[in-house]
Amino acid sequence: MENREFSHVPVLLRECMEGLQIRPDGVYLDGTLGRAGHSLEIVRRLSTGRLIAIDRDGAAIEAAQVRLAEYRDKVLLVRSNFSDLAQVLDEHHIEGVDGMLFDLGVSSPQLDDAARGFSYMHDAPLDMRMDRDAALTAYTVVNTWPMEELRRILFDYGEERYAPAIARAIVRARQEKPVETTFELAELIRGALPAAAKREKQHPAKRSFQAIRIAVNDELGALPPMLHAAGKALRPGGRLCVISFHSLEDRIVKKTVQELAKGCTCPPDFPVCVCGNKPKVRIITKKPILPSEEEVTQNPRARSAKLRIAERTEHEWKEV
Ligand SMILES: C[S@@+](CC[C@H](N)C(=O)[O-])C[C@H]1O[C@@H](n2cnc3c(N)ncnc32)[C@H](O)[C@@H]1O
Repeated sequence: MENREFSHVPVLLRECMEGLQIRPDGVYLDGTLGRAGHSLEIVRRLSTGRLIAIDRDGAAIEAAQVRLAEYRDKVLLVRSNFSDLAQVLDEHHIEGVDGMLFDLGVSSPQLDDAARGFSYMHDAPLDMRMDRDAALTAYTVVNTWPMEELRRILFDYGEERYAPAIARAIVRARQEKPVETTFELAELIRGALPAAAKREKQHPAKRSFQAIRIAVNDELGALPPMLHAAGKALRPGGRLCVISFHSLEDRIVKKTVQELAKGCTCPPDFPVCVCGNKPKVRIITKKPILPSEEEVTQNPRARSAKLRIAERTEHEWKEV
């Protein structure tokens, strides 16, 4: 049962609202509803406008039904993966959107609810699924993925320099018996690290848990289809705001938006343009917007947040 005490402080809230340039009669989309912190601020600014809010986690949808109850007639809640954004918009006959927000990663309630198995701070069965109907769990990743694949995700998604030693320790342990809980996994990781790494300020399992969570939820794979569908569905002048929390996400957001912002793709030695491609978006934030010191003090979770904003141009959307 969802504990309604679990809350989430919205990150870069003022900056997102300014970035979205909300019009009271516009159509807006929050692709990562969570505990509706940003959604609530969007919907408060609407008169005849509408908000479509998406989350793959059923608990987020349930909590939003309560939190946004007052604005029920303006809000459409959709349980879906944002990688299926084009389909969601199609199914609900939404032809153009005036602004979209994606606040990536996990919400505080997901981390704080011990039963979800996201956190090395609470003992629970290894799960880590944002969508509790999804087939892949952390248990499957930890107990069945080949050692090389474990090493790769720990290194690539967790930037864990001791990835080979941790992958080896996991495989050795599971030969005896399956690794069943978050505490068992955290202990295994701790045991695989050299003494110096155990003395670091952050928890020794932090990077590995992040890596496994990203793999379980295919968090990086969902970004390119979402960014393309978002750009395509935005009306000219519509804003796309994306908050990322680690360098891997930010790199994908930055690169994809740069590609969309590129006009002509003809080789540089062509005397005239033959491709006819025009920039699909204009980059508003050359450098990402970071939280103020004050925000980080009040909400340490905001520490690594980066907000990038792009604006849809008036040019026709041509697939390249
Ligand atoms: C950081 S939280 C959003 C918090 C929200 N902005 C607030 O202020 O309450 C991210 C949310 O996005 C959801 N999410 C992450 N990846 C998703 C995806 N690919 N599709 C749909 N929802 C996703 C998570 O389940 C989580 O609830």
